[in-house]
Amino acid sequence: ESVSFIVLKSIPDPPKAQISRNGGTLTCSVNPSSSGWSYYFYRGEKNQEVLTVQNTDFHSNREIRVSQGGVYRCRGGRGEPVYHTEFSDPVTIVEPVLRVSPWWLSPGASVTLSCEVEHVSAGWSFYWYKAVPDLSHKSGSYSYELLPASSNGTADNSYIIHGQTHTAGYVCRAGRGEPHFYTLYSQPHFVWSGDLHPSASLSVSPDRVQHFTSDSVSLSCEGNSAEWRVSRFLLPDFLSFCSDWGTMNGSTCHVQKIQSSNAVYWCESGSAFSNAVNITGHYDDELLLLSPVHPVTEGHSVTLGCKLRTENLLSKVFFYQNDTIIQSESRVEMIIPAVSKSHEGFYKCQSSGKESPQSWLAVTSTSRPDSSSFPVLVVALTSVVLVIFLFMMWFLYKRSRDSDIISSSQDNNQSSAADHREAQHRNDSMLLHG
Ligand SMILES: *[C@@H]1O[C@H](CO)[C@@H](O)[C@H](O)[C@H]1NC(C)=O
Ligand SMILES: *[C@@H]1O[C@H](CO)[C@@H](O)[C@H](O)[C@H]1NC(C)=O
Repeated sequence: ESVSFIVLKSIPDPPKAQISRNGGTLTCSVNPSSSGWSYYFYRGEKNQEVLTVQNTDFHSNREIRVSQGGVYRCRGGRGEPVYHTEFSDPVTIVEPVLRVSPWWLSPGASVTLSCEVEHVSAGWSFYWYKAVPDLSHKSGSYSYELLPASSNGTADNSYIIHGQTHTAGYVCRAGRGEPHFYTLYSQPHFVWSGDLHPSASLSVSPDRVQHFTSDSVSLSCEGNSAEWRVSRFLLPDFLSFCSDWGTMNGSTCHVQKIQSSNAVYWCESGSAFSNAVNITGHYDDELLLLSPVHPVTEGHSVTLGCKLRTENLLSKVFFYQNDTIIQSESRVEMIIPAVSKSHEGFYKCQSSGKESPQSWLAVTSTSRPDSSSFPVLVVALTSVVLVIFLFMMWFLYKRSRDSDIISSSQDNNQSSAADHREAQHRNDSMLLHG
């Protein structure tokens, strides 16, 4: 009889990885720690998703920064073929969701921010920030500035902003416990204004809301900055920049093909946000309504058009405002000679058996009610300071004239009197300029 023996070496249980978090930074470790481990990070309940940051599938680095909420695990691996440790326990990274309402500013209306985290009742406090464009990063980013009365956090998960008149971006985060533990920052969300301002404005060529997907479109920024980036918010919630879907040349973003989409575009400089515009992309076989991309000022005229990509329209063209027919002629244009607030609304056209998508025509009042008390306060304070200043000027002027008269009468000299007259004339004109 022959007996074979198999010698079994005892193999230790595979070590388990540990994950720890500090803010948005996750660190993976393997105990007992020894050299040669690579660290792999996973996101999602079922570990299906290998975390990719900067286009690599895994990280030999122990540490990663995450910018997205979710459940994370890690494990170590080494050798060839790779021997893996067990998965770490999960850690949950909370990413709040910010909602801004309304999306489009209307004069006088306040803006409500709300910050949503799961388990809202559990003693969170909320921190509110203004997003300030940071153009030094290639892929667009923002720095965050705390909004007033928010440095200690608010117990309420909503925050109201009064008197906002320009496009602006906001971010929130939540925190709780002692020592204070913060969630990630939310994604930035925006409130948009369509009104053009000389300090920062966006214009679109061709100037219309609806475009064919094969159209090329130029988006140009103008104002008090040498450097701009063009931002796009694909509704309902995807933010990206010209570098992702176009090419920036100077302050103009050229888009070869506008996608089939419904998006808001605006310009950002280091300090300012421009007016925002709606642009929608439509397939080449659709009928398009031609309507201006900027709000129309009350009293001005506006021309709406209707267009197929290739052929001319043969049959009658119908124009609708809010689903009510307002013109049925064979002309492909409709002119409103003097726009009033009642012309604001959704427009579409119909012809040749097709119907265009509808787009919003915005109307700006010429005399807009000044809702916020802030500018009024500033004007009042400035006036008071100005009056005091003018009074002091007058007082000093009077005193200096008196002393001039005394000095000129003292030396009783013809040329010094002429000097004095000239000085007085200069003084007068200075006062006039002031
Ligand atoms: C963009 O469209 C929305 C409705 O979808 C409208 O409320 C807003 O005023 C439009 N903005 C401009 C600048 O036309
Ligand atoms: C950028 O714009 C300038 C001026 O409009 C033009 O001459 C130049 O060819 C453009 N450059 C590119 C790369 O398109």
